[in-house]
Amino acid sequence: MSKIFIDACFGKETSYTPVWMMRQAGRYLPEYMQVREDAGSFLDLCHDPEKAAEVTIQPLDIVGVDAAILFSDILVIPDEMGMDLSFVKGEGPVFSDPVRTREDLDKLLGGEAAAQKLTYVYDTIKLLREKLDARGDDKALIGFTGAPWTLATYMIEGQGSKSYAISKKMMYSDPKLLHAILAKVTEVVKYYLQKQIEAGVDAVQIFDSWAAAIEPAKYDEFSWKYMVEIAEYIKEKFPHIPVILFPKGIAAFIECGSVYGNFDVFGVDWGTPMALAKEKLGEKYVLQGNMEPCRLYSKEATTECVEALQKIMGGKRHIFNLGHGILPDVPVENAKHFVSECHRVSGKR
Ligand code: CP3
Repeated sequence: MSKIFIDACFGKETSYTPVWMMRQAGRYLPEYMQVREDAGSFLDLCHDPEKAAEVTIQPLDIVGVDAAILFSDILVIPDEMGMDLSFVKGEGPVFSDPVRTREDLDKLLGGEAAAQKLTYVYDTIKLLREKLDARGDDKALIGFTGAPWTLATYMIEGQGSKSYAISKKMMYSDPKLLHAILAKVTEVVKYYLQKQIEAGVDAVQIFDSWAAAIEPAKYDEFSWKYMVEIAEYIKEKFPHIPVILFPKGIAAFIECGSVYGNFDVFGVDWGTPMALAKEKLGEKYVLQGNMEPCRLYSKEATTECVEALQKIMGGKRHIFNLGHGILPDVPVENAKHFVSECHRVSGKR
């Protein structure tokens, strides 16, 4: 069966505009919290294909989105490259041994050998493929990765950061080392996405969540070109698999006309006016996005935005989504309202 989300990614006409939400499998769902508790920790859940598959599917049934996104985390890559990942309550992800020197980098596993260690991800995908095929509906499965830059910030800082000062000190004072880190991560990501596709995902998204930490004049050199390199690798091998790039917070880079590359869908963050994205990118790429996630706290604010987006995009070359991830305290009912409003305004019967 042709999948509406995949058709939309390729800019084909669809009977309505599909919708999904970044971070849709997560803590705002009581059903997720239950499975996570049964699993033990968040990482235990990522490592358990049966349970990870279950929470991947939850938003399809509970909120009615048109695509599932694999349940995992972007940070499983550095973890399997040999960095020790843990999630500290109240602090988020932590790597105890950050990468600050060439020696630190050389110690890490790279290439296909590192990607090969992520077997639990591929097992989750294989299970999901079976479950989704058995449902017989047209819901797509999205695989994902972090962008090399976003992954590198966690590897270098050792945790989330407000200033990214250690990574940016490296950018300006030892760019060769930063490029070596980015190149090593890029190689792993290529194999990782390839293996996700071979295991059965229908599309892939690259999250560059911390793109905005880089000044526009340096964004291509330290992030975008690596994302494009990964996209080109995937498009050459798997032209039928849509590639979605989501760089968060780069309106200035878009405005300058600097976006290029062989990929299918551009994920528009909530700080970028959709009309600007359409003007600059809409002919070349299908656009995904971009409601401010906090609008989900109000049904009225949600409807207002969905209607405005529909007016700008007119149901063409568009996929509804948030402009970043859903927050954990959003009422489930409001998430359902967002999805049904996207379907209503775009004419789903
Ligand atoms: O539903 C989905 O989107 C699929 C699952 C998914 C998770 N993380 C699950 C998760 C995806 C696609 C991600 C990507 C991810 N992880 C990103 C990029 C997307 C974005 O939001 O910008 C980033 C930057 C991370 C790193 C990360 N993982 C952080 C900073 C945190 C802690 C902050 C937080 O939200 O608690 C995580 C943990 C994480 N990843 C959770 C989930 C559901 C929360 C863990 C839990 O307590 O259950």
